[in-house]
Amino acid sequence: MTRNIILIGFMGVGKGTIARAYARTHGVFNIDTDDIIESKENKEVKKIFDKMGEAYFRALEQETANWIESSVTNTLISCGGGFYKVNNLKSLGRVVLLDASFEWIHKRLKNAKNAKAKLAKRPLFNKEKEAKKLYNERAKLYREVADVILDVESLSIKEIVEMIAKETIKNEERVKNEI
Ligand code: S3P
Repeated sequence: MTRNIILIGFMGVGKGTIARAYARTHGVFNIDTDDIIESKENKEVKKIFDKMGEAYFRALEQETANWIESSVTNTLISCGGGFYKVNNLKSLGRVVLLDASFEWIHKRLKNAKNAKAKLAKRPLFNKEKEAKKLYNERAKLYREVADVILDVESLSIKEIVEMIAKETIKNEERVKNEI
């Protein structure tokens, strides 16, 4: 992998799960933008939202994007659901959208073993109605910034990982051709 792979998509679509599965099977490292922010601030995302507000969190996402652009290569990066809004997304790597319907995502979160914790740590998924509204607002915007769209509803984790691996090969060929 030469350029990074940037996994974007709505909260709960499985970006972390896919990133970990990919890293395990392909011998690369994966990082997560929420984890970087939590470690920098020494606070959970939810606490950052509660104490400092959403705008402060978005500024941290932009700082994280700037650091990735200047310092990170060869890495699979899973992003928080709103990270797609940073102004240099396309410079960070090849952008892969994990796409699914709101109903599928909601069911996935509700049926998870640790469903309560998964919902509690996501301040913007607190109320189903508001989350759905956010989903509808973003659906088109995600597609606009994506280089590749994977419909995860109809694919197994293994299949998604294989498709990302194919993207990685294309990625490398593209980089070679640019040299
Ligand atoms: C957000 C998604 C969250 C986290 C924050 C805001 C969003 O990440 O960054 O709560 O705006 O969609 P996940 O997509 O990992 O839940």
